[in-house]
Parts: sequence; C-alpha cells; structure tokens
Amino acid sequence: MNESERYIGVFDSGIGGLTVMKSILDKLPQENIIYFGDTAHVPYGTRSRAQITDYVIADVNFLRTFALKALVIACNTADSIARTAVEAMLPVPVFGVVEPASRRAAAVTRNGKIGVIATNATVGSGAYEAAVTAVNPELQVLSKACPLLVPLVENGRFHRGDPVIATVLQEYLTPLREAGIDTLVLGCTHYPLLQDLIAELMPGITIISSSEAAADALADGLAAQGLSAAQGGRRAYYVSDNAAGFEAAARTFMGGDLGGAVTLIKPED
Ligand code: DGL
Repeated sequence: MNESERYIGVFDSGIGGLTVMKSILDKLPQENIIYFGDTAHVPYGTRSRAQITDYVIADVNFLRTFALKALVIACNTADSIARTAVEAMLPVPVFGVVEPASRRAAAVTRNGKIGVIATNATVGSGAYEAAVTAVNPELQVLSKACPLLVPLVENGRFHRGDPVIATVLQEYLTPLREAGIDTLVLGCTHYPLLQDLIAELMPGITIISSSEAAADALADGLAAQGLSAAQGGRRAYYVSDNAAGFEAAARTFMGGDLGGAVTLIKPED
C-alpha cells in the first residue's frame, strides 16, 4: 500500500461524527477511511475533561492499529478537550473540527460577533474562543451550551413542526440573536441535522457547519502534504456498542448508505 492509499482514521463519540464523514465522502470519495464511533460511551459532551481524555486515548489506540496517513477528530467535544493528547500519540497529521470552523467564522463575520453553540464540555473548554481569537484577537465569541440538542436529535426530534425542538431552539438561540451575532457556528456534530430550523430562527445570520468546514480543511491539508489518494474508496466502520443501532441511525446522519461493514469491538482491549 503506498502512502496516499493508507487510511484516514475518523473518530467520534458515536454516530454524530457521521455528519463529518458525510461531508468527507462528498468531497473525497476516493479516500480509504476507517471510522470509529465510541457508542459505548456516548455522549462525551456531558463528561469531565479527564474522562473524555481517557476515552479519546482509547479511541486513538484502536485506530492506530491501522495503516493511517491522517487522523480526523470528528467530534467537537473530543477536539476541544483532547487534541493535544491525540497529536502526541501518533506521527500522522491530525485534523479536527474546531479550528476549521473557527477560521471560517472569522473570515465571514462582518460585525466581529460570532456565536457558537456546542456541548457543555466544548463550551467549558473555551476552545472556540481560543481558535477564533488566534485568527483575530478583536473578534468576540458568544458561546451557548445546548445540552438538550444531542439527545433530542438522537431521538429523532429534529423535524419541522415538532413543538419540543422548536421550543428548545428558541430558548437557546434567542439570547445569541438578541446579542447581535452575525455568524453562528454549529459546534457539535449533531447540529447539521437542525441547520434548516436554526436558519429560520436566525434570519440574516451566516451559519457555519463545523462538519463541512472540517471536510474542506482535510481536503486542503491532504493536498498540501501530497497525501491525497487518486483511487480507493474503501470504508469500514467500528463501534464499541450496539452495531445495529449505529447502522439504523447512520442513514439519518449520512443521508444514505454507509458503504462499508460495521464491526463491534472493544477499544480498551
Ligand atoms: N460528537 C459530540 C460533539 O460534536 C456530540 C455528542 C457527544 O456529546 O458525545 O461535541
């Protein structure tokens, strides 16, 4: 296997990273990809830094058993909390979601006020503030933890006309709208499924999907390092629990077939 045909390892706390995977497959269908979803331990976003870091280290220990050419942290929470630990674990380039979304938001804002919605752990980490102000220290980031959104999306409550999701989004988004943000980062893997509903509640505000921004940054990064595959397209999925549930949910998160088998493993082994 030559260098460019090696795998891109992609991991998330569970199924949410499939929104990143979808964006990667749309952009880079020729790449060989191994996805790991830590479905035994989802959600990460409500847990402590120490616990999230331990889970992430186990995730990467599993993925590095494959011949990798790059690793994608396809989870905002994992990227926010454990990026430095991941980079220290393996010699290949590490891509994430936070930095690409932050750079995109910094590039498009006109009034310098950027909203970020994410899990408790991501907001608590301050990772988005750090990444945005690294681009331009003048920019202001208003973050809002939205802990009800992941369970609502995972329970299928993301459709237009659902009064529960409408009420919850209204409560989370109103303060950001009233604060005058002109750009809103969807800083969680699950939120692209809510993008249309969020856009309706945030007229005139530019919405940035961290999943899409991550895939664009991966494509640019691979090309810049001469690592883009010319052919391939092999995909395999591994989960730490409930492979059948993962397959069922995958259709919702990917909008189609996984294009590869799902295997149950124990990453700690
Ligand atoms: N994947 C997580 C994120 O993007 C959301 C789900 C979780 O809390 O584990 O932050």
